[in-house]
Amino acid sequence: MDDVTSPGARRGFGTRLTHGSRPAVRSHGFVNPPLHRGSTVLQPSCEARIENAKHRFERVMTYGTQGGPTHYALEDMVAGIEGGTHCTIVGTGLAAVAVPLLAFLRAGDHCLMPDSAYGPARNLAEGLMTGWGIETTFYDPTATAESLAALWRPNTRVLYMESPGSHTFEIQDVPALAALARARGAISMIDNTWGIHHFQPFAKGCDVSIQALTKYVGGHSDILLGSVTVNSQAHHHAVRAASSAMGHYASPDDCWLALRGARTMAVRLAHQEKAGLEVARWLQARPEVDRILHPALPEDPGHAIWKRDFTGACSLFGVVFQPRYAQEEIFRFVDGLQLFGIGASWGGYESLALPTNLAVVRRVTPAPAAQIVRLHVGLEEVADLQADLAQALALLPR
Ligand SMILES: Cc1ncc(COP(=O)(O)O)c(C=O)c1O
Repeated sequence: MDDVTSPGARRGFGTRLTHGSRPAVRSHGFVNPPLHRGSTVLQPSCEARIENAKHRFERVMTYGTQGGPTHYALEDMVAGIEGGTHCTIVGTGLAAVAVPLLAFLRAGDHCLMPDSAYGPARNLAEGLMTGWGIETTFYDPTATAESLAALWRPNTRVLYMESPGSHTFEIQDVPALAALARARGAISMIDNTWGIHHFQPFAKGCDVSIQALTKYVGGHSDILLGSVTVNSQAHHHAVRAASSAMGHYASPDDCWLALRGARTMAVRLAHQEKAGLEVARWLQARPEVDRILHPALPEDPGHAIWKRDFTGACSLFGVVFQPRYAQEEIFRFVDGLQLFGIGASWGGYESLALPTNLAVVRRVTPAPAAQIVRLHVGLEEVADLQADLAQALALLPR
């Protein structure tokens, strides 16, 4: 089988997802690669064991925690999706946030994180990282290179980004911010879960890309998994060393399921992008709605940068209600939905709704002063989803 997932391969996204990471040699003609489970990896001799351990970050298999063939197949798939050279799989998307932060930051360092960041990333910065003597400044996610430069310190070591913010959907000017980080000798990292393959982080100048594979790659709400992809061997060794030192690991069963999810991701994503935009536009015309937070809509403040930097969108967006509604009224609307489940982990085949907790995001920079509901549009028929939203909107006071 060709290495069609390799960076620079010219075939289309769907073709690469279909044919990548299917090593013909070990599959005996079966379409899918085998699943390898294991802790002990038997070594041919004591000398070989010592020698092999020196190359454990280069896929010389020495022990289960360093990964095995099933992990490597998924790593190649994800590196191909994002255009990186090396990928490390970890047990959750949150672990994929934590590992590179802790790989590149030391006591006395300073980190810049957007005020819109995924809540648990913020918790890590404010909690454990602060305890270890690493200081974080939360910056306006719409910062320009000039305004971010004003927050820069001599000890700023990591610039963290998440574009768009997964609760308030601000698009960041990643190429400009990543270029600033590079010029100042810092590491730039991005949570690219929303962008998946629509945003190519390394082509835009980032050093590290984080994915919660739990979302669209898994695609079926039945696994938790994360990836850290980089673009150089030096960064790969730093990530692998941190991940290994902390005992991070992912179940090969889950890696196998993520590979299976990836095979159908191109069609799911294309369908969900279209369905999500149809639902977003329908909601935009409703009198109960003030505005929609979706960078693919031309009226969104982040649209120009999204159009410049992304090739598409996923189906996660925000609905800002008219300011006249109180939280309990919006809760009644969400509770009244029948097809949209109340749940957090987006990217599956099913639609979800979740009131946004603005106490967790946008604490430093001003946030919309109204109730926001985050919607994830799944694979149900759009007309059924619209009918469900209409009946729940009818529960709001006139
Ligand atoms: C943007 C973003 N990054 C990371 C994660 C963490 O993923 P996981 O649930 O696999 O820990 C999430 C989960 O909701 C997320 O939304």
